[in-house]
Amino acid sequence: MKASAPGKIILFGEHAVVYGRPALAVPVTQVHADVEILDSNSTGIWIHAPDINLHSELNALPSDHPIASVIHNFLFISRQSPSPIHAERSGSEVEAGSRAWGERGFPNLNIKISSSIPVASGLGSGAAVTVALLRALSSHLNYPMTDEEVNAFAYDIEKIHHGTPSGIDNTVVAYAKPVYFVKGQLIETFKVGRPFTIVIGDTGISAPTKESVADVRKLWEADRAKWEGVFDNVGEIARHAKEKIETGDWKLLGGLMNHNHELLQEMMVSSPELDSLVEAARKAGAAGAKLSGGGRGGNMIALAEAEKADDISSALISAGAKNTIVTQIS
Ligand code: MEV
Repeated sequence: MKASAPGKIILFGEHAVVYGRPALAVPVTQVHADVEILDSNSTGIWIHAPDINLHSELNALPSDHPIASVIHNFLFISRQSPSPIHAERSGSEVEAGSRAWGERGFPNLNIKISSSIPVASGLGSGAAVTVALLRALSSHLNYPMTDEEVNAFAYDIEKIHHGTPSGIDNTVVAYAKPVYFVKGQLIETFKVGRPFTIVIGDTGISAPTKESVADVRKLWEADRAKWEGVFDNVGEIARHAKEKIETGDWKLLGGLMNHNHELLQEMMVSSPELDSLVEAARKAGAAGAKLSGGGRGGNMIALAEAEKADDISSALISAGAKNTIVTQIS
C-alpha cells in the first residue's frame, strides 16, 4: 500500500501562531514524503528509510523515535478500538478495523519511507512523514481514518517531538489545503482570489523548530507584555494577508511579508543566511520576502510576479541558496 503527503510553507504568522494568533500556510506538492508498505516474510516490522540511513526492525528503535512512535501509537489505537468508519461501513463492530490482525498477533511488514522534503528546513518534513506513514498503515491494515483523525494523531506525534507546537504543520499536511489556522479552532481554509507565485529558497542549514520555538518562549516568559504586543502585530498581518489573498490584491502582500520578516527578526529567529536570501530576493524584484517556518536556517519565501520567478530563483542561488522551488498558490 502506498501513501504520500506534501510539504508545506507558512506564508504568514509563524511563532505568533503558537500563542493563539492566526497564521496562513499552504501545501507544497513539489516536495513530498512517500511510504510503501508490503507484507513481509520475515518476522517483525522492518523499516527502511534510506534518506536517513535507517534500516531497522521496529523494536530495535527507541520507542520515542519519530517513526517508531507513529507505528507504536497506530498499533496501539487500532488494537484498542475498531475503526469507527469501518464499523459504520461494514455494519459490524466485530469485523472492524485491524481486529482481524490483532487476534493473529502483530503483522509482519516491510515499510519503505522516502522523502524529498529536507529535514528541519521549515517545510514540514516531520509532519509529512507522520501523515504518509499513518495513511499507509491505515490502508494496509484496514483501519480507515478520517482526515480529522489523521490530523489529531499527527498533532499528538508533533507534541512528542516538538515541545509546544501550534498544530499548523500537521493540519496543512493532513488536509493538503491552504489553511487559515488558529490554534484550537475549527479548520478554516481560504480562497485564492488570483493565483500568485512564491519562490522558496533553502539556506541548506537544518534548524530544529523545537529550539527556535523554545527560545521564543524564553523571550515571552521574560517580558510577556512586550511579546504579546509583537504577536498581536503578527496576527494583524496574517488577518490582512488573508483578505488580500482572497480579493486577489496579492501585490500588497509583499509589504506585509517584509513587515512580518522584521517582526521575526525581532523574535531572533532569523539568521544572517536567511536575511541575505531575503535581501537578494527583494533586490531581484520580489514584491516581498520573509523567512518561513521555525527560522534560524531552513527556508525563506519570496512573493514574485510569475515572469520574475526565474530571476529571483537565480539570485537566491547566487546568494548561497542550496535549492529553490517555484510554486503557484492557487
Ligand atoms: C513551524 O512550521 C511553525 C512554528 O510556528 C511552530 C508551530 O507553529 O508549531 C514556528
